[in-house]
Amino acid sequence: MTSSHDQPFGWALIGCGSVGNSHSRWAVATPDIEVHAFCDINEEAAGSYYEQFEGRYYTTDAERIFADDEIEIVTIATTHGTHAELALAAFEAGKHVYLEKPMAMTSADCMRIYHAMQAAGKKLMINFSIRFSGATRAIKSRLQPAKVSHAQVMLGREDLTRWQWLPGIGGGPLFDVGVHLADLLCWMHDSPPVEISATGGQVTHPGQLASPDIIDTVAANIRFANGSVATYLMSDAGFSEKLTKWFFTFNDGQQSAVLDKHFSRATITTPDPVSGELTTESYSPPFIERMPLLVDAIRNDTDPYVPAYPGIVATLVLESLIASVHSGQPQKVELPAELNA
Ligand SMILES: NC(=O)c1ccc[n+]([C@@H]2O[C@H](COP(=O)([O-])OP(=O)(O)OC[C@H]3O[C@@H](n4cnc5c(N)ncnc54)[C@H](O)[C@@H]3O)[C@@H](O)[C@H]2O)c1
Repeated sequence: MTSSHDQPFGWALIGCGSVGNSHSRWAVATPDIEVHAFCDINEEAAGSYYEQFEGRYYTTDAERIFADDEIEIVTIATTHGTHAELALAAFEAGKHVYLEKPMAMTSADCMRIYHAMQAAGKKLMINFSIRFSGATRAIKSRLQPAKVSHAQVMLGREDLTRWQWLPGIGGGPLFDVGVHLADLLCWMHDSPPVEISATGGQVTHPGQLASPDIIDTVAANIRFANGSVATYLMSDAGFSEKLTKWFFTFNDGQQSAVLDKHFSRATITTPDPVSGELTTESYSPPFIERMPLLVDAIRNDTDPYVPAYPGIVATLVLESLIASVHSGQPQKVELPAELNA
């Protein structure tokens, strides 16, 4: 069923921090969006976004956004520990939601969001940024589902007092950056993960983090339902000029691809079917516009470009990585039965 909604959608941002700035620019640049309000628990942050991007008001009270009938789409770009409650409240108030990653910090909370979304009959898009890169999309469209991959993110010189490293609020770099690898691997392999074997823990900062549960380094193997496999490396051990912060290789058994330069460049190598001679080409197409993808999904009543399912699966992967690191045992990854239907 398509929507008869032909007016712009009223939009509000909750979380006027660094990534909230990008969301605001995208909203302003989308003709189908009318900027209404900015919310942050830090009043100065909300006020400065209102000054910069305009709209009707700013507030420190998310309830005001939820109670505003003229706001139809809410972008949530807050600290990780607040995603679940804010997204639930947004759906209960009948809003469509553009939610930052991770969808939530536990798969149970992801499922609560999923059920609230279904009950509301509204749309949810997750901001797994790497999927919106033209280079990533070139690899996805040129290769068959990956058979063998490697994904890594290497942070350097982290401030360990940032909220991202704190338990409950941030959860550590797995929830901040490692979640992108989890999602991208599942997407490129086009198959749910079934088993994860991981090692690591506090390798670079033993005993220096806010909680013994926070992990600074993970090296893992992932097996997918279709038999394909990947290696996964996340650490704050520092990146190099050659292997930059984000680095990925995908191989479908014929072609291979490297995604690098902050996921802006795809280098694809293809063998000639007869001679076997290799041809290598690099592409750096632009990112696709994100807000129109959510607006289209609302108008056409289709799944958004990055819907709830990958958000749930990515958090499940993190839970399995953590359980494997702490137990020293491989973990089976079991999707909630209703997602397999
Ligand atoms: N998709 C990406 O590529 C990408 C990149 C960076 C950050 N992020 C994500 O964006 C989110 C925000 O990250 P950031 O780097 O912008 O952080 P930030 O610290 O710069 O901003 C977070 C903002 O949220 C506000 N906030 C916290 N709790 C709130 C609440 N309950 N109600 C209203 N406001 C609240 C804070 O005051 C702060 O202004 C995180 O989920 C992060 O993982 C995504």
